[in-house]
Order: sequence, then C-alpha cells, then structure tokens
Amino acid sequence: MTIIKPKGTQDIMPDQIYKWRFLEGKFRVMADNYGFKEIRTPVFEYTELFSRGVGNTTDIVQKEMYTFEDNGGRSITLKPEGTASVARAFIEDKAYADVQPTKYCYTTACYRYEKPQKGRYKEFRQFGLEIFGTKSMLADAEVISFADSFFKDLGVNDLELRINSVGCSKCRDKYREALRDYFRPHYEELCETCKNRFEKNPMRIIDCKSPADKELAKDAPSILDYLCEECSQAFDDLKKNLDALEIDYLVDPTIVRGLDYYTKTAFEFVSSGIGAQGTVCGGGRYDHLIEEVGGPDVPGVGFGLGIERLLLLLEDNGIEIPEEAPMDCLVVVMGDRAKAYGQKLCRDLRKEGFKAELDLMERNMKGQFKYADRLGVKYALVIGDDELDKGVAQIRYMEESKQEEVKFEGIIDALRR
Ligand code: HAM
Repeated sequence: MTIIKPKGTQDIMPDQIYKWRFLEGKFRVMADNYGFKEIRTPVFEYTELFSRGVGNTTDIVQKEMYTFEDNGGRSITLKPEGTASVARAFIEDKAYADVQPTKYCYTTACYRYEKPQKGRYKEFRQFGLEIFGTKSMLADAEVISFADSFFKDLGVNDLELRINSVGCSKCRDKYREALRDYFRPHYEELCETCKNRFEKNPMRIIDCKSPADKELAKDAPSILDYLCEECSQAFDDLKKNLDALEIDYLVDPTIVRGLDYYTKTAFEFVSSGIGAQGTVCGGGRYDHLIEEVGGPDVPGVGFGLGIERLLLLLEDNGIEIPEEAPMDCLVVVMGDRAKAYGQKLCRDLRKEGFKAELDLMERNMKGQFKYADRLGVKYALVIGDDELDKGVAQIRYMEESKQEEVKFEGIIDALRR
C-alpha cells in the first residue's frame, strides 16, 4: 500500500513554493524595516513550557498538543504556537539584561491536534512578532500596525480588525464572577465543553462556536465594564494610537483568545470570505508570561499570522503572487565530448549568476529542444562536437526563433546582452 501524508498536513510542492517564498521574503523585509530580529527556536520543547505558558485550562493544552515521552523519559511537546518558545529563549539568553525593548520575529511550524477543515490543519505555519520589555501601548499599536500594513501591502482590504481588552487578573476575577452569575441559570443549556469551562474558564464560553451557546452569550456582561482603571486607561491609549495611525478597528468584547497568557490588549484580523476559520492573525499583550515560565517580570506583546489562511485569503481576494523567473538557459549538447564540455559550461554560467540547466536525461536534439520549451528558457546554447572543435556555440533565442554563433569566451557577454 502506498503511504500518504498524515491527515491535516500538507506538502508544499514546487509549483506552489513561489507563493511561500514571496510571502516569507515580504515578511522578512518588513520585519527588518521595523527593527525586528529573526529568532529560530526548536520544533519541540519540554511540555511544561506550554502547560505553564499557554495555560492548563486551554483547549490547546488539554486536547490539542502532540505530546510524547522521549527515550530519556522526558515529556516533550511539538510547538503548538510560537510565543512560549520565544519567551523561553529570551529568558535563557538573558536578553532582558540588554537595552530594551527586545523585538523578535519568526516563521515557525506549529502542531495542534484539531479536526482538519478548510483553513485548519494539524501542521500549519505562522509568521510571528513579539516585543518584550515595554508596557507602552505604543508597542501594541506597533504590532497591530505591522499586520495592518502587511495585509494592505499585499492588496488585502476586506479584513476586519477587532480589538478588545481582556484586562488583568484583578479585572478578570470580577468579570468571571459576573459571567458565572449570568450563565448559572442557563447552565444545563450549555454544551458539554462549556459546562467544563463554567468554573475554570468561563470567559471561553463567550467564544464558543456552538449556535446555542452563541445565542446565550449574546447578552452576557462585557469585560469592558469590568476593567480596572489602569487597564481601562491602557485600552484608551491603544485606541488613540490606532486612531493616530488611521487604522480602522471594531471594539469587540467577545474577543477572548484561546490562550491563557493574555492581559489587556487582545486583537484579531478576521475575514468573512474564507469560511469558518476566518481569523488570519491573532495576538495581544501578555504581561506575566515571562514570569510564568521562570523569567523576570517583563511584559510582552505580539501576534501570530497563519500563512495557510493568508494564502486562502489572497486567493479569495483574487490577488496573484508573481511567479518566479524560469530558467535562463538550457545547454543543448550533441556527442559525448560536447556533453562533458556542456556540463562544465553550465557550471560556469551558474557561477556567473545565470539559471542554467543541462539535460540529465541525455535526450536527442529534438527531445532537448522540447525540454527547453517545457522549462520556458530564454535561450538554448547548442554545442556539438563540431562546435567544440571550432570553440563556438550556437545561441538560439527561443522566443524569436533567432540563432547566433558566438565564441566560447564571448558566451557570457552575449547572454548578458
Ligand atoms: P493563535 O490565535 O492561536 O495565536 O494563532 C495565530 C494564528 O495562527 C491564527 O490567527 C491562525 O491564522 C493560525 N492558526 C491557528 N491554528 C491554526 C490551525 N489549526 N490551522 C491553520 N492555521 C492556524 C497564537 O498562536 C499566539 N502565539 C499569537 C501571539 C503571538 N500572541 C502574542 N504573540
């Protein structure tokens, strides 16, 4: 039986890779312009990082992690998200002792045991940003502004930015109590998952996708009415900063996010055109995560942007990513001596920066020209044993069906022309 890829994973084949390279390049250039430094962390971490960082009551930790014991008996987990790993690396590197803020960017694969559907996979990839070391709402506006510009630069205009504040532990204690009071008379109507959330994490009930729970949650109290003075002021500052940047947003008190580490700012960029999994980018502030995973008291803010969802969004918006240039040249050879010389010539052309190929199938002339058409090359460099003796090659300009004879030493200049 043939072996196929695991459900919820994807092969990114060569005919699609140009899209990934384009987006990765764009993200890198923009991150450079904003002063974010790239960081790469391991694909797996000790499980404790996520149970402490992401939070034991979250769906991610309770149901979605790929966790296993390694041969040394340690519990290991494939990264379900990027922030906890980046925070761990920041602490381990003692980067907090440097001049702050610390601004990291990353591209990472993430693993979550979720039921696959359009826009939701078990292995997916994220672009991410994190700013550590500042409580200023300028930093929150900066990461939001980055995402906003990234989408706009790509030509995406139909995303909605929704912002909220999930407050601090003081605001949330009061708010959770208010939520329990609100949902208590309807406890029996809640879905099984939300019954479990009722005591431990009632804020997640407002985020439940079940239609009945959604209906119940419609008139639930809003977190914004429970913010303490500091959190309320921070939310006002954020809105002011976004207004100054002329970034449109909608205040949506139902944005609670699926990870426990958030404090104050929470935001999502949502599309209505790509199906149920419409959140393309999500993030917010996490002022205690670093402490939670064993570091000093350093605040942070950032986002994760799902690359597969971004590609769906671009397709839905009819935005085409430019394809990469095809090969420049095929060296077409006839005869054994010419083959050997052709391979050397090909290497020299590549050294000079040309995209050059030699037919490794050793086809006949006709076959090699057919192959040149298939590759879409601009020219074929034809060398037979005769040409070899004379020290020349024929350059065939494929589009113009024009041919010209050049001396070996003049090939590169001719191709450059
Ligand atoms: P998240 O909301 O869990 O946040 O994920 C961020 C983005 O990853 C989502 O908006 C979505 O585009 C994409 N994503 C999530 N799950 C899947 C999936 N199963 N399949 C495909 N795409 C998916 C975080 O991961 C936080 N670490 C973001 C953050 C960074 N907050 C602060 N800093």
